[in-house]
Formats: sequence, C-alpha cells, structure tokens
Amino acid sequence: MTATIATAPGTPGLDHQVQPAVRLSGVTKTFRDGGAPVLDGIDLDVAPGEFVCLLGASGCGKSTLLSIAADLDKPTHGTVEVAQGRAALMFQESALFPWLTAGQNIDLALRLRGLSGRRERRAEADRLLKLVRLPDAYDKRPHQLSGGMRQRVALARALAQDSPVLLMDEPFAALDAITRDVLHEELIRLWEATGLAVVFVTHNVREAVRLGQRVVLLSSRPGRIARQWRIDIPQPRRIEDKNVAELSVEITEHLRQEISRHGR
Ligand SMILES: Nc1ncnc2c1ncn2[C@@H]1O[C@H](COP(=O)(O)OP(=O)(O)OP(=O)(O)O)[C@@H](O)[C@H]1O
Ligand SMILES: [Mg+2]
Repeated sequence: MTATIATAPGTPGLDHQVQPAVRLSGVTKTFRDGGAPVLDGIDLDVAPGEFVCLLGASGCGKSTLLSIAADLDKPTHGTVEVAQGRAALMFQESALFPWLTAGQNIDLALRLRGLSGRRERRAEADRLLKLVRLPDAYDKRPHQLSGGMRQRVALARALAQDSPVLLMDEPFAALDAITRDVLHEELIRLWEATGLAVVFVTHNVREAVRLGQRVVLLSSRPGRIARQWRIDIPQPRRIEDKNVAELSVEITEHLRQEISRHGR
C-alpha cells in the first residue's frame, strides 16, 4: 500500500535486462526554426506490460510526446523505439468514421493490419467488441452510441492494431464521472488481460493515481521530466480510496509548482 517516490531522470523500478516496449532517448521537439523547444531531452523507458501515466500542465507537450511515440510526428533530436514497430493511439474524441458502423471501423483497422480473410476479420471484430463489452454494436453507427460506448469502440479499434503498446491521449476527459469510473475499471481489466504497455496522458491527478503503476510529471516550457512516482497501491483501486487521495494531494502540489513556475 505504499507509494515510493523517485526523482527524474531515470525509470524507477524498471528491469533494465528487459527490452523496453517504448524507449524515448534525448527527445527534443522544436516547431519553429530558432524557437524554444516544446520538449527538451526526454528520456523515458516503458517496460513491456507497464502502465505509465503522463501528467502535466496544459500546453506542456504531452500530446506532442504521444504523437512522436506514435510516429505521427518526428523529434527534432533524439530517437524513439517501439517494440514491434508501431504503437496504437487513442484520442480524447473517438475519431470514428461516422459513415461506418462500429464493426466497420474496427474492420478497417484489421485490414490495415493485413488480415485479408473477411470471415476472420468479422470473428476478430466480434471478439474485440465483446472484450470492450459491446457485443451487439457491430452494426451501430457512431451517432447511435453514447460517448462512453464510442470510446469503447475506439479502444476496440486501437486493440485491433495488435500492437504491444497502447498510447492514450486523455481518452476519458469528455465523459461524465460515472462513465469514466466504469471505463477506468474496464481499462484495468483489459490491461491485466492483454499485458499491453500503456502510456496514458491526463490532466487529472486522481485519474493518474487510480490507473498507473508509474506517474511521470512533465514540466512546461520546455517539457522535461520533472518527477516520477512509482505507485504500489494494488489494483483494483478506486478513485475515492484514501491512499489514492493522499498521493494525489502530494502530486497535485508538485503539479501546482510546475504550473506556477510558468504562470499557467
Ligand atoms: N503542430 C504544431 N505547430 C506549432 N506548435 C505546436 C504544434 N503542436 C503543438 N504545438 C505547441 O506545442 C506546445 C505543446 O502542445 P501539446 O498539444 O503537446 O500540449 P499538451 O500538453 O498536450 O496540452 P493539453 O493538456 O492542453 O492537451 C503548445 O505550446 C502548442 O501550441
Ligand atoms: Mg494534449
């Protein structure tokens, strides 16, 4: 039930014998020539099966970091390595194609993955929809689903990529507290069942402590790793648990310091 604290840089508790699922080395990102870097010298290893939450003030570079890890953007300096090639990415908005059904959205990801047999793809889409507890949603269009259901479909679509790494950019931020609570439970169940490495971006300190095995706090201007916490509170956790609340207070204090340092 303890939460040990470690200061950055470094990766507390990571077994260095194991090849990381994600390795960012010296990642720096500058958008304009001669401009200040948004990210500066980020070194971050995520172990296979590890659940890491990335916290930081608005604009500190969390989404930029995920885009670089997902190979949607390139670092100005530094390198990115992801086990088995490419990470799956999930956004705050489900970003489902509205003209396709839930099942067809997943089918598209399966085709991109290279599954050619139609029957095989249908079976896989059904399995994934069952996994996210939407067994009857194959023929539903996104507008026929609630926000929480759409995020479940988006999760199934991300899982369809069959990557060992799942990157999530504030995936539950637009949902109400109860739906978010249910999806936290579902995500942990899935994570335990699949052994995926997860990098989960959030503004919400409680959410980070509810979910993560490690919380990484980014500073702003430039984004650097300011501090990290390894979280040993066993799952299942609840957002209202006393030890989740206590650690959240402490991390919030550090987040506040980061924000006040940069006047945000
Ligand atoms: N394509 C781009 N071109 C120029 N500047 C950009 C680009 N993308 C992001 N930035 C800038 O980089 C900084 C970090 O943006 P980013 O979206 O990564 O922040 P964030 O931590 O995800 O913020 P939020 O919590 O609000 O989502 C911001 O100042 C933003 O304006
Ligand atoms: Mg963002």
